[in-house]
Amino acid sequence: MKNNFQKQVKLLSGVLSIFLVLIFILFVGLFYLKNNPSFLQPELEEELVEISKEENDQIENGIHVQTGFIDDEHMDLVIQNCTSCHSAKLVTQNKMSEEGWKATIKWMQETQNLWDLGPNEAKIVSYLAKNYAPEAKGRRANLEVVEWYELK
Ligand code: HEC
Repeated sequence: MKNNFQKQVKLLSGVLSIFLVLIFILFVGLFYLKNNPSFLQPELEEELVEISKEENDQIENGIHVQTGFIDDEHMDLVIQNCTSCHSAKLVTQNKMSEEGWKATIKWMQETQNLWDLGPNEAKIVSYLAKNYAPEAKGRRANLEVVEWYELK
């Protein structure tokens, strides 16, 4: 009877320790995964990043290669909103003041079904007015006469 009881305790503690070891391994595994989330699908993630970089985000000499837009803040918004109906070239070949760009957008909204740009409109207009502004037509250049002479 006593012998039998000892056997049972031994068996139970054996099962219990195997169980504890398994839980320990499980926790180590989870901890590793938490710190290396890409462990599950590393190739997929790298590939996606590479494709989007190469095809869509290539910038050369400050110009977005695919569309020809000048690389600057909010360029992504302009690409998203201004290239689906006509080519980017129609935008980049124009030069307008802030008012001019606002009026063009308003005209497209009233006559060409351009959607409401919401809070993005101000960002888009500021990008356009900064990078596609009218050529400065200010004063002529200063005269570069170094030696002055007196009229007699
Ligand atoms: C819903 C469609 C649509 C979207 C989106 C759109 N446009 Fe247009 N846009 C047009 C149409 C249509 C024309 C006239 C094209 C033509 O004359 O061949 C036009 C013309 C223009 C012109 C030329 C205007 C002129 O006076 O010649 C400019 C500049 C322009 N769009 C800029 C933009 C900008 C900037 C955006 C983003 C905010 C934008 N477009 C988004 C439809 C759109």
